Amino acid sequence: MSRVTVATIKEKKLNKQKISMLTSYDYSMAAMVDEAGIDMILVGDSVGMVQLGFENTLAVSMDDMVHHTAAVARGTKHALVVGDMPFLSYHVSREEAVRNAGRLIQEGGAQAVKLEGGLERVEFAKAIIDAQIPVMAHIGLTPQSVNAFGGFKVQGKDVDTAKNLIAAAHAFEEAGAFAITLECVPVLLAKKITEELSIPTIGIGAGAYCDGQVLVVNDMLGMFKGHIPKFVKKFANLEPLIKEALLAYKQEVEEGTFPGEEHGFTIKEDVLERLY
Ligand code: KIV
Repeated sequence: MSRVTVATIKEKKLNKQKISMLTSYDYSMAAMVDEAGIDMILVGDSVGMVQLGFENTLAVSMDDMVHHTAAVARGTKHALVVGDMPFLSYHVSREEAVRNAGRLIQEGGAQAVKLEGGLERVEFAKAIIDAQIPVMAHIGLTPQSVNAFGGFKVQGKDVDTAKNLIAAAHAFEEAGAFAITLECVPVLLAKKITEELSIPTIGIGAGAYCDGQVLVVNDMLGMFKGHIPKFVKKFANLEPLIKEALLAYKQEVEEGTFPGEEHGFTIKEDVLERLY
C-alpha cells in the first residue's frame, strides 16, 4: 500500500469518499492504526493529557512533539502522519512557526502539521505553507485556548462566533491549508462549512456531514481513565481486559505459576555439571 498524501486526501473529498483519521503517540499503536488502513494519523498534542498525565495540552513542548512524532512515523508505511504544533510554537513569529513546523517534518518524519486557532493564526499557517509544509488548520474548540474560552466548550453557537468560524475556515482555505479540523461545533454549522469549502473538513464532535472524522485513539478503544467527551464512541472497551490481564500476571507471579517451563531457556547437562 502506498503512502497517503495530501493530494489523496483532497481527492477523497472530490470523490465523496469519507476520510478516516485517528491519533497515535507511539510506535506500536501507530503500526496497528496504519495496518488497519486509516488514512491519516495525528500525533496530537493530546499526548499531554493521554500519555503524559497533564490536565490540558498547554505544557506540551516542541521536543515532546518531535519525540512522539518520530516514534509514530517509524510505525507507519501507509498513513499520512500529521504532527501537531504545540502551544506557543507558532504564536511568536512567522520564522519560529516555520522552524518548528520544519522540525516535525525533518526530525519527526511527519508529512504535514496541524495548528489551532482562528483568523489571528492564518498568517502563521501561510508562512508554513510557503515553506512547502502542508498545514491542516484546527478551528472550533481549540484546546490550546482553554483558558481564553474558560473551559472546553462547544463553539459557534451564536451568530457572531459562527460567522467567525466560517470566516476562519475560508481564510485557512485561501492560505493553502489542505484540510481543516472542526472540533465541537454544531452539526449544521459543520455541514455549512463543509459544503462551502473545497478542502476536506475533519470533524471531532462536529457530526456526520464532515468529509472525515478524527478521534483520540485511547478514547475510542476505551483505554483512557480521564474525562471522555460526549462525542466519543467507544469501539472497544479495553481497560477491563487490560486490568484482567494485569491481575492474572500478578497472581501467577505470586503463586509461582509464571514463568512456566515453556518460557525458559535450556543449558546442556555437562555445562551445568561443571558449574558445581
Ligand atoms: O491533539 C489532538 O488529539 C487533537 C484532536 C482532538 C483533533 O487535536
